[in-house]
Amino acid sequence: MTKLDEKVALVSGASSGIGEATALVLAAEGAKVGLVARREERLKALKNTIAARGGQAISVVADLADLDLAQQAVDQVQNAFGRLDILVNNAGVMYLSPIAEAKVADWQRMIQLDLLSLMTLSKRALHHMQTQGSGHIINISSVMGRTIWAGRSAGYSAAKWGVGAFSEVLRQEAIAFNVRVTLIEPGAVDTELSHNITNPAVKEEVLSYVANVNALQSEDVASAILYAVTQPSRVNVNEIMLRPLKQEF
Ligand SMILES: NC(=O)c1ccc[n+]([C@@H]2O[C@H](COP(=O)([O-])OP(=O)(O)OC[C@H]3O[C@@H](n4cnc5c(N)ncnc54)[C@H](OP(=O)(O)O)[C@@H]3O)[C@@H](O)[C@H]2O)c1
Repeated sequence: MTKLDEKVALVSGASSGIGEATALVLAAEGAKVGLVARREERLKALKNTIAARGGQAISVVADLADLDLAQQAVDQVQNAFGRLDILVNNAGVMYLSPIAEAKVADWQRMIQLDLLSLMTLSKRALHHMQTQGSGHIINISSVMGRTIWAGRSAGYSAAKWGVGAFSEVLRQEAIAFNVRVTLIEPGAVDTELSHNITNPAVKEEVLSYVANVNALQSEDVASAILYAVTQPSRVNVNEIMLRPLKQEF
């Protein structure tokens, strides 16, 4: 028996970075995994990797910024495997910029995906978990959901602080349904996230920071998630913050 045999997990943003690494570790521990993101080819390749290692996965191609599609993605995974034990709310974008130079459309995108979509996925998963009588929702925030980085993180921190607030309300409300809630707050992780920053100067600064700080690897965050979901059922790991050793703020 592996630790997550008989469990079903949905990982949003499974096509790269932290989500991909998390899907691999959950599948390696025996979970059946629903892989959700937009890039179909990446999901297909990951699904094949999991199958080649003896695991089981399905891919669901969805733009989770569309809240109807977000709800449908949860239902699709639940229908495919007959239950839903773990939701890893990981899909996100990070458009850092000073407020004066920020694009309002970037703020909108972050609130829509990093916060509203996460809330919608949580609500729909909670519905299935309530019926089931158990479950675990993992919400990926950030160190920037606990602090701020002036000149850069206004919109991102607004979304991620929202994730922190929502997750604590969810944790308290979900106790009645025997559902656990964990907030994960990583510092700098070496992924594609910073490559998509739309402000060229901030992008260059952040890429250079990530390269020089000996950033976390996606697998480091996946290990923290695995720790949370493999504790005895009486334990709710409420929050994990992890930074690269060299990261000060
Ligand atoms: N990297 C860091 O330093 C860091 C630090 C703290 C927190 N985080 C958080 O960790 C999470 C994962 O980020 P990452 O670092 O692993 O970056 P990443 O490699 O860029 O992964 C982001 C994931 O989100 C998915 N995604 C983006 N827009 C989407 C949409 N509209 N619909 C569905 N999926 C969408 C992407 O897939 P598609 O493009 O295929 O849709 C991708 O799988 C994010 O919530 C991020 O805020 C990252």
